[in-house]
Amino acid sequence: MKNKLALVIGGSRGIGRATVLRLATLGFEIIFSCRAESEEALSTRDEATALNAKCSILTFNLENRTETMQKVETLCKERVPDVIVYNAGISRDNILAFMSPDEWDQVMRVNLDGFYNVIQPAVFHMLARKSGRIIVVTSASGQTGQAGQVNYSASKAGLIGAVKALAREIGRKNIFVNAVAPGVIETAMTEKLPKEKIKPLIPLNRFGKPEDVASVIGFLAAEENMYIHGQVIGINGGLVL
Ligand SMILES: NC(=O)c1ccc[n+]([C@@H]2O[C@H](COP(=O)([O-])OP(=O)(O)OC[C@H]3O[C@@H](n4cnc5c(N)ncnc54)[C@H](OP(=O)(O)O)[C@@H]3O)[C@@H](O)[C@H]2O)c1
Repeated sequence: MKNKLALVIGGSRGIGRATVLRLATLGFEIIFSCRAESEEALSTRDEATALNAKCSILTFNLENRTETMQKVETLCKERVPDVIVYNAGISRDNILAFMSPDEWDQVMRVNLDGFYNVIQPAVFHMLARKSGRIIVVTSASGQTGQAGQVNYSASKAGLIGAVKALAREIGRKNIFVNAVAPGVIETAMTEKLPKEKIKPLIPLNRFGKPEDVASVIGFLAAEENMYIHGQVIGINGGLVL
């Protein structure tokens, strides 16, 4: 994938970090976003560089619509990414009866509004170029619903709807749009889950690793994917069948 640029939204750690490294291995040049040039972000950049990839960091908070749209617009005017991976996401779990407005709003702002803030300006440029690939990281929770995650499940189900609608809208312009839906992946986000209760529900009898997700994203981003479009690919060890 020489001379191809991938923009990974939320690339500093976890699944995003593994995606950056996978795309680096495939030969992409990478720009990844996160809120600040943290130690994690700098070490992800350095690891990608060590794989001989050009890699840089773009900082913005997805919750800030103006800043996010401006940064994406500025990037696209300079160079339109060939691939965008919308990976950033947060969870603020609580049962709905006790869920605060902030817990609801923040999850919607990052997971769903952030998608609009990034993808809307970028799609305009991809349409003009008549090529591109958009890969969205949703969740098994968005496919099946998860108790204690009404906000998160709603945001991730919303992304699935957005991916399918967008795939219908722009497929004929040679822009591929797909989603991946991870199950339980070992990252900071799942550190506090009661893993021993969940494990028996997973037919492969193990939790996922960020690399399990990144390898599918890499496939969808590369030219090997010739006809997968508008799909939601579960990466969950059989948790959702
Ligand atoms: N882990 C799982 O089991 C699992 C399962 C299903 C789906 N997912 C989804 O997979 C994606 C990655 O999850 P993960 O487990 O790798 O999470 P993670 O380790 O918490 O990483 C989240 C990433 O999103 C970025 N981010 C968060 N809030 C942001 C904001 N307001 N503005 C800009 N960037 C922001 C973070 O960057 P900073 O450096 O700025 O914090 C970080 O790069 C998420 O969409 C998540 O919902 C995860």
